[in-house]
Amino acid sequence: MKKNLTFFLGILAISLPVLVSNLAIAEKPSTEASKEEACITCHTTISPGQVKDWSVSKHSKEGVTCSSCHGGKHTGPKDVNLVQLPDEHVCAQCHEKQFNEFAKGKHNFGWTSLNALPITHVEPNELMEGGKGCGGCHNMGIKTEAQKKEQRDKGYKYQNNSCDECHTRHSFSKKEAQDPRACQQCHMGYDHPQWEMWESGKHGTRWRIKTDGNMQSEAVAPTCQQCHLPNGTHENRTAWGFLGVRLPLPEDSQWKADRITILKALGVLHPETAKPTARLDLINSVDMVRLTQEAWQKERDKMIKTCSQCHSASYAKFQLEQGDKMLQNADRLLAQAIEIVAGLYKDGIIEKPANYSFAYPDFLYFMQTGGGNMKKLSFIDQVLFQMYMKHRMRTYQGVFHMNPDYAYWYGWAMMTKDLGEIQELAATMRATHKKNPKK
Ligand code: HEC
Ligand code: HEC
Ligand code: HEC
Ligand code: HEC
Ligand code: HEC
Ligand code: HEC
Ligand code: HEC
Ligand code: HEC
Repeated sequence: MKKNLTFFLGILAISLPVLVSNLAIAEKPSTEASKEEACITCHTTISPGQVKDWSVSKHSKEGVTCSSCHGGKHTGPKDVNLVQLPDEHVCAQCHEKQFNEFAKGKHNFGWTSLNALPITHVEPNELMEGGKGCGGCHNMGIKTEAQKKEQRDKGYKYQNNSCDECHTRHSFSKKEAQDPRACQQCHMGYDHPQWEMWESGKHGTRWRIKTDGNMQSEAVAPTCQQCHLPNGTHENRTAWGFLGVRLPLPEDSQWKADRITILKALGVLHPETAKPTARLDLINSVDMVRLTQEAWQKERDKMIKTCSQCHSASYAKFQLEQGDKMLQNADRLLAQAIEIVAGLYKDGIIEKPANYSFAYPDFLYFMQTGGGNMKKLSFIDQVLFQMYMKHRMRTYQGVFHMNPDYAYWYGWAMMTKDLGEIQELAATMRATHKKNPKK
């Protein structure tokens, strides 16, 4: 069966140009049809894999051709600059529903939230606009004309479309996007290892065993899509989100105090007055934080409904509440560590980097703890950032993705170790600090 299919596709790929040209002759060649034929004939030499990929797509069967997306102005090697590299609006012409859902979801903020951070503007462009680092995953979201212009002005012409991130070009397959591996490239690694946590937890393990045909094919196993893009929706959002903070602040007084400390290190509250800074508006504008209890509860309730397809609602609720508690526990450790490092700034033992707004740790510079100055990196701030970005994330994300090892060894236990290291480093820095050093 498979062999036959491959054979058939092979024949199709080889005979397609002929087929198209025959059709064109039969219907008397209109200029449109022969233009189309030219794209395919020429690109069968220039980029054969793409033509093959397109030829197996639903698009090719429905008459959605190269020029439907790329326009018809470019006709050969000399006018490649006239080709249109289609953005999401081109897909929207035929897929309005998916476009509108996507536009309401969190993925639509990927590019804007990346560019909202100061770190982005002190790192090499290749990693951002070039898509080789942060920008490779944050090419999610419909770019404004201004954002596109900025990108082109820097010399980067690709990455205009985020619809091809899950059903990749040019096969644009629905089945591909339904497979959890379609999420893997981005949802993995240092600060959001959802792929690893899910895959090695019970939900993913069962999915793998089932997909390999080693248990009943009707057995249930939730995928990323089932929990996060239920019923084919393209709108995504979770209750806590990535930062794990929400408003209003918690009622518990210790947790509230810890949250305030964390918000200071995120630069959204002033370290001395605890008043909101301009950064709070920035963070709100990209939907990073649920701003009301109701907005948070709405997402939580949706999730529990999803869990209840397989578990009892009270079971699911109990599981997720433990995630909330672990977030609270993690905040306690992190706030203690922030206070220690903040004390070093206060006593002049760490100098305020020129680009920092305050003499206080600033998480939005990531590992660039000199504020962009590579000669003034603060190591203790790097340990603190790792505690926040790598280990705090794992502590609660691990619970939410049913992965005991991530929650404990890669999360909580490592936070404890970070705190120990920070205490030790701070003590040494204080002991060896020379008062009024010659500048
Ligand atoms: C006679 C040959 C020829 C024809 C006909 C042709 N192309 Fe091309 N096309 C090229 C060449 C050559 C390039 C540049 C390849 C490179 O940069 O390596 C190119 C590049 C492209 C690119 C990529 C542009 C980029 O910036 O990377 C797209 C998209 C494209 N063609 C689409 C089309 C479409 C759609 C048609 C039909 C309307 C078409 N081509 C017709 C030869 C052709
Ligand atoms: C459904 C829309 C669609 C169709 C149909 C389509 N493309 Fe594309 N193509 C895209 C998108 C989206 C991109 C990525 C644009 C970007 O990166 O900004 C792209 C990029 C390209 C590129 C440049 C990037 C690369 O990987 O080399 C080439 C060349 C190309 N297409 C050729 C073709 C050819 C030839 C056909 C017809 C056989 C075709 N495309 C049909 C949507 C389409
Ligand atoms: C000119 C109209 C048109 C444009 C433009 C277009 N599509 Fe489609 N697309 C279709 C049609 C028609 C189908 C088949 C619909 C069906 O089978 O229900 C389809 C199907 C799909 C599917 C489902 C394929 C499957 O395996 O079932 C995906 C995914 C898709 N398109 C994505 C895109 C993306 C992404 C873009 C933009 C880069 C795009 N389309 C641009 C018309 C278009
Ligand atoms: C491997 C892909 C990948 C890379 C590389 C990457 N990110 Fe992300 N980023 C993501 C994903 C996925 C999320 C969502 C994670 C979550 O919610 O757990 C995210 C979330 C974020 C958020 C929070 C968005 C929000 O609204 O909650 C910001 C800001 C951000 N990243 C900035 C950056 C910056 C700056 C860099 C580079 C210094 C970077 N990212 C590198 C994939 C990536
Ligand atoms: C985060 C991953 C992701 C992104 C980004 C994404 N899609 Fe999808 N898309 C999916 C999934 C998953 C499905 C399968 C939905 C289902 O199970 O019915 C899908 C299915 C589709 C289908 C087929 C619908 C059907 O039922 O036949 C179309 C059309 C489509 N997407 C268009 C788009 C367009 C247009 C964009 C950009 C605005 C886009 N997608 C961006 C994940 C994605
Ligand atoms: C059984 C359901 C389920 C599955 C399967 C699942 N998640 Fe989640 N996910 C959750 C829950 C629950 C949360 C936390 C929601 C909240 O804040 O209340 C979450 C949170 C997230 C977040 C926000 C940050 C975080 O981790 O807390 C991202 C991003 C995410 N999941 C991506 C994924 C990806 C990618 C996959 C597949 C590799 C996946 N999830 C599989 C249930 C699931
Ligand atoms: C090309 C990279 C990429 C792919 C592929 C991708 N995502 Fe994302 N995802 C991101 C980024 C970046 C963000 C953060 C967006 C922002 O800045 O708000 C994100 C955010 C999310 C969130 C929201 C978390 C929150 O803050 O509430 C969920 C849920 C999610 N993705 C699920 C998925 C699922 C499920 C898939 C696969 C079907 C997927 N993603 C595929 C890059 C990706
Ligand atoms: C599509 C069905 C399905 C959905 C949806 C689902 N689960 Fe599961 N879950 C399972 C199966 C099957 C198992 C393995 C058998 C068992 O332990 O019950 C499992 C196992 C678990 C476990 C036990 C893991 C262990 O190590 O023993 C927890 C906890 C859990 N799920 C919580 C949740 C939560 C919370 C949600 C919603 C966010 C959820 N599940 C959604 C099917 C599902």
